[in-house]
Parts: sequence; C-alpha cells; structure tokens
Amino acid sequence: MGYKVSEKVTWVGKIDWELTRFHGNEYSTHRGSSYNSYLIRDKKTVLIDTVWQPFDKEFIENLKKEIDLEKIDYIIANHAEVDHSGALEELMREIPDTPIYCTKNGVKSLKGHYHQDWNFVEVKTGDTLDIGENRLIFVEARMLHWPDSMFTYMTGENILFSNDAFGQHYASELLFNDCVDYAELYQEAIKYYANILTPFSPLVMKKIEEVLSFNLPVDMICPSHGVIWRENPIQIVNKYLEWANHYQENQITLIYDTMWDGTRRMAEAIAEGIKAADDKVVVKLYNVSKSDKNDVITEVFKSKAFLVGSPTINRGILFSTAGILEMIKGLGFKNKKAAGFGCYGWSGENVKMITEEINKAGIAIVDEGIREMWNPDEEALQRCREYGRNFIEKL
Ligand code: FEO
Repeated sequence: MGYKVSEKVTWVGKIDWELTRFHGNEYSTHRGSSYNSYLIRDKKTVLIDTVWQPFDKEFIENLKKEIDLEKIDYIIANHAEVDHSGALEELMREIPDTPIYCTKNGVKSLKGHYHQDWNFVEVKTGDTLDIGENRLIFVEARMLHWPDSMFTYMTGENILFSNDAFGQHYASELLFNDCVDYAELYQEAIKYYANILTPFSPLVMKKIEEVLSFNLPVDMICPSHGVIWRENPIQIVNKYLEWANHYQENQITLIYDTMWDGTRRMAEAIAEGIKAADDKVVVKLYNVSKSDKNDVITEVFKSKAFLVGSPTINRGILFSTAGILEMIKGLGFKNKKAAGFGCYGWSGENVKMITEEINKAGIAIVDEGIREMWNPDEEALQRCREYGRNFIEKL
C-alpha cells in the first residue's frame, strides 16, 4: 500500500517490522527498519529506488496497485546496495527496457550484483531530467557511503531524496518526523550516523556544504530508511554537521569484559573516581560481552573519552573487547581520548595490548592505564578510584 508524501510523490516502500539485524549481523535494528521507495507522478512517472530482495514480489504486487508498471518512464537508482536495489531484477523482468538512472559507479555496482545489461543512463552532479512540471537534479554523493551513492533533488516540491544519508533504521507507519517520538527518532539517527557514517565525516561536511551552496529550497528530505524529515528538515542536516565535526558530549564511557568480576569491579571503582572528581560528567559502563555492540559504539561516539578493559587471557585480551576495539579502529573516531585497564594473574599483557590497539585506532592515549593483579582488594579498588580522579584531570 502506498502513502501520500506530497501532491506528486507516493511512498511505495516496505516497512520491515521484524528486522533485528542488518548488514548480516553487523548492525542491530531494535526498532526494525524500512526500505523506502518513492513514486513520482508528474507528466513522466519515476520510481526512486526499490526494496530489499526478500520483499521484491510483495513490492511489485503493491506497486501494481499504484500504477501500471508500463507507465513507469524512468527508474532512479540512488544507491546499488541490495537493500535498495534488491527488487530491480523482479521489476526489470516486467519492464526490461525502462532506463535506470544512476552514477557511473552505480552501473558498476549494479552490474556486479545482478550481472544484467539493463538500460543504464549514467548521470553526474548537475545533470537534470525533465519530468514535466518539475525537474530532477542529480548530485553524486561518492562514499556517502558507497562509491555509487547519489542524491536526487526534485524541483517544484523541493524534495531531496537522500538515500542512506539522514536515514534511520526505524520502522514506523507514521511516515513523517513530526508524527513520531523524537527521542526514538534521534536515538536511531545518531546510532546510524555513529555506526555507518563516522568514517566518512569529512566527506559528509564537504557534501553538505556543496549542496547548501546550490541554494535549493528544501521542504522535505526523503531518505531510504526510516521516516521523512518534513517538519524543519534542515534540523537533521545541522545535526549531521555537528556529528561530522569531531562530535563529543560531556560523557566518559567504560567498556570492558570480565571473567571473574575483577575487571568489572575495577571499572566501577574507576567510574566512582571519575564521578567524585566531576559530578557533571555523564559516566556509562558497558560489559561488551552482554551489550549490543552498535549501542556501545553509539555511546563511544558521544563520549569525549573512554576506557577499555579486559583481563589477560592466553597472553591476550578477551575477544569481545578485541572486537569492539576493531570496530572503533575501523570507524576512525576523532577528538576522543582513551586508556586501558584490567586485572591479570601472571603474564599480564592486557593493558599494554589495549593501549596499542587504542593507539592504532588513532585515538589519543591518556596514560599507560591501570592493571591490578588477581582479584582487586580494597586497596586495589582505592587505586582505581584514584586513577579515575586523575584520568579526568588529564583530559
Ligand atoms: Fe541502505 Fe547503503 O544501503
């Protein structure tokens, strides 16, 4: 079933209420997601993006209720990733000659995925397509977040179809930002930014500045996941500029794993020390083996500093801690400081290894960290409290 977005635009996507994991197991979606596809009915009829392949038949059936497929003049593929192009094969079986507008890299990606020689039309930034009363203007958005990514702007109704940018993994029948719970919406929007877009932050800033320099009015931003930004759409653009610019809040996060609770007790004592030295700073603790990794990453993204803890095991660290450090390294967080901690029984390589990994992630090391032998007693916990007090003073 389609939903009316504007006079000429209808949402024809799929809301995926059941989705709990996205990108395989790489991204948790506690609130589901949606694959947004948009049908523009001007003098010409245009379909922008499709849905993920498991829903391809349902998508085509629903689309047929909206329009005779033969009447679709153009397909726009803003992005080739399969959550948006997954129904193309099914669609192209029905309308095989319909031109597909995408970037040069889009052609490569789509051919790489589907191995079909469809009627591709390559577009680049500034190219336009007349669709009757209005025009579509294409803007390449390379590496936001794939080489092929592209935005499409529709004149007249002043709508930016931004694909993944400004999206959220957030299932809702309510369609628009002004209809949903803002706390939920922003939780999903920042999680999406932190986990997917952080590595591309310099490009995000550059692209937003470029798009703003066109001075195009924006009445709505229609992303490819989650709700449409209808009320004050520029708010999410401004948020992206904040998030892309070395974002931090007054927060310190402790992330750790523990075997017999020694490292956990160290984490709690360090946190006590931090709070004793600064009662304004938000301190959060996560056992990474029990917490959702993407939620933890979101908290690290918000932090001005973080501490990573693990006991020593087999001359190394626990895999959950190693895993989160690998994610942090890949995301390339900026403007954060960190240190390591943990307890050990004999060889005790843990804190040194954690410190090396933090260093490899390009994050400033606060100090050499703190390590305690065996299960920390009250004296050791007191050292941890003292360490926490000093840690915040060194920031
Ligand atoms: Fe929502 Fe990059 O796909």
